[in-house]
Amino acid sequence: MQGGMGVGISLSGLASAVANAGGIGIISGTGISIDEMITHIRRAKERIKGTGYIGVNVLFAMNDFAEKMKAAIEEKVDFIISGAGISRDMYAWGKESGIPVISIVSSARLAKMSERLGASAVVVEGHEAGGHLGTERPLFDILPEVVAAVNIPVIAAGGILTGEDLARALNMGAAGVQMGTRFVASEECDAPLSFKEKYISAQLEDTILVKTTVGLHGRAIKNSFTDLIADDKKVKIKKCIDCLKSCSHRFCTLDSLITSMNGDCENGIVFAGARVHEIKEILPVQKIINNIMREYEACR
Ligand SMILES: Cc1cc2nc3c(=O)[nH]c(=O)nc-3n(C[C@H](O)[C@H](O)[C@H](O)COP(=O)(O)O)c2cc1C
Repeated sequence: MQGGMGVGISLSGLASAVANAGGIGIISGTGISIDEMITHIRRAKERIKGTGYIGVNVLFAMNDFAEKMKAAIEEKVDFIISGAGISRDMYAWGKESGIPVISIVSSARLAKMSERLGASAVVVEGHEAGGHLGTERPLFDILPEVVAAVNIPVIAAGGILTGEDLARALNMGAAGVQMGTRFVASEECDAPLSFKEKYISAQLEDTILVKTTVGLHGRAIKNSFTDLIADDKKVKIKKCIDCLKSCSHRFCTLDSLITSMNGDCENGIVFAGARVHEIKEILPVQKIINNIMREYEACR
């Protein structure tokens, strides 16, 4: 499964390429308008040949969460995947419409709660992941606890790059894996070339944890912007659109993500996973998936 990546990193281009290559694609609904999200859902569906699956990622922490989720349900996406918090409502809306809802969690406690409220599956994300993080613990420490705690499928995320990683996760009881960082460095990823180049030029220890205004730490590649927001410094906000349910207003997280989405990867946040330095090439999605399956078969 390809993880949902905002802002503008996983849209119809990446999600449909992953679905066509035998994976499951996810469009991120974060930081784009509802109309843009609907356009990308429809475009992805048009591009999918055969029976590929497409989901939409919506973040509970955003003010437009409910509207986005309802719009994605109306577009009859295959599933909704939600992170940065859970609500009773979102599972009820999924149930009413017959669309599975998957929660992103980082502990057995939250996985259990999600299952009880009606989640169809959980993605368990470890500390190695790119983007906002819910834990300081590595994936393979949390995964067995989550597998033991729930009876729904568990998908492992955070630092998965190779077929060996896939085999390890499946051996520990995962039903599948979710990958973000590896798919960013793909030809079809919707991110600008400068974003992908930042990935393939990253060195060991080039990622850093930044506290964003969402109230969570996020893993990003060091750049001028991460220097600017270090030490809890405040950065003037140009125009607040009140996008978050709860925001510290220390800087504008959305604006910083839009800056990098527009190609300025020095003055915006470039989220990336802890193993980004291991990626040396921008590859077609099909090749990434073929490589993983070959490595998986070899080590099985
Ligand atoms: C650039 C980037 C942006 C991300 N944005 C989101 C997001 O908007 N919502 C979300 O639930 N997860 C987000 N993630 C997390 C991914 O969906 C996925 O779970 C994570 O990347 C897995 O770890 P990996 O990067 O080590 O493969 C993001 C990750 C990256 C690298």
